Amino acid sequence: MDLQLVGKRVLVTGASKGIGLAIVRAFQEEGAIVTATARSVTPELKATGAAFVSADLSTVDGPQRMVEAVLAGDSRLDVLVNNAGGGVVPDEAFGDPLDGGDGTWAAGFDLNLHAAVRTIRAALPSLVEARGAVVNISSDSARRPGAEPMPYSVAKAALNAFTRQLAERVAPSGVRVNAISPSATRTNLVTGKDGYIAQVADKAGVDHGTLVASLPKHNGMLTETLIDPSEIARTVLLLASPTMPSVIGANWLVDAGATKVV
Ligand SMILES: NC(=O)c1ccc[n+]([C@@H]2O[C@H](COP(=O)([O-])OP(=O)(O)OC[C@H]3O[C@@H](n4cnc5c(N)ncnc54)[C@H](OP(=O)(O)O)[C@@H]3O)[C@@H](O)[C@H]2O)c1
Repeated sequence: MDLQLVGKRVLVTGASKGIGLAIVRAFQEEGAIVTATARSVTPELKATGAAFVSADLSTVDGPQRMVEAVLAGDSRLDVLVNNAGGGVVPDEAFGDPLDGGDGTWAAGFDLNLHAAVRTIRAALPSLVEARGAVVNISSDSARRPGAEPMPYSVAKAALNAFTRQLAERVAPSGVRVNAISPSATRTNLVTGKDGYIAQVADKAGVDHGTLVASLPKHNGMLTETLIDPSEIARTVLLLASPTMPSVIGANWLVDAGATKVV
């Protein structure tokens, strides 16, 4: 299947590892020209040969400065993938019904919502020019009452609402905006010794491996196994492809049936 992505200029955030790295590789396999961004580059990202711009997207001016740097040489941008995100485990989380104070909530929203809003704001003129596409990486936890940590899942729910609203606003300019909601995926965030789940295990005093093994079933995933990042990446390719002009404002679950709604 020709997804018509050859030569397309693509910007992927949170691209140094995990789902973002898989997205970089998938676009390159389709012949796209990818710029990757994260706070720091990894050997795996370096090996892809993608252009790299370092940025902390959870800061107020980080996203705009990053987009300016990416577009400095060539202002064309066909696809933006807002993938950077993740949860923070606050010291006060356990036993706190709100999973943290103001600082924790602000950090959750800065990385999982505001980074996408600010990046899109800066990139929109180029995306309009190219009649391009935006894909936001959300999470199935946005739709799961009781999902932890709450600042993360609520920020992802806001990202879902933002995706749908923005899709409506910019579709007349030829820009398609969509989202993907993965469930537990095999990345550093889940399996890494310094990842989010490892931090939760540490604070809860349980074994990290045992917690990881229980995640798919806990989430209601019918495969009872972690999702491979390459599966999320293939879904991104489809949503970004000009061969899908009618997919607008969609939020595709890649969750092995974890979301129990009709
Ligand atoms: N893994 C899952 O089970 C799962 C499930 C549902 C949704 N998701 C979503 O999928 C996306 C990718 O997750 P992942 O599992 O691949 O995570 P990951 O392995 O932890 O990778 C996160 C990426 O984001 C970058 N990043 C983190 N904080 C950043 C910041 N402040 N500024 C710029 N870049 C930053 C990281 O690089 P640096 O640290 O170098 O900045 C890294 O490249 C996230 O939005 C996450 O919420 C993941």
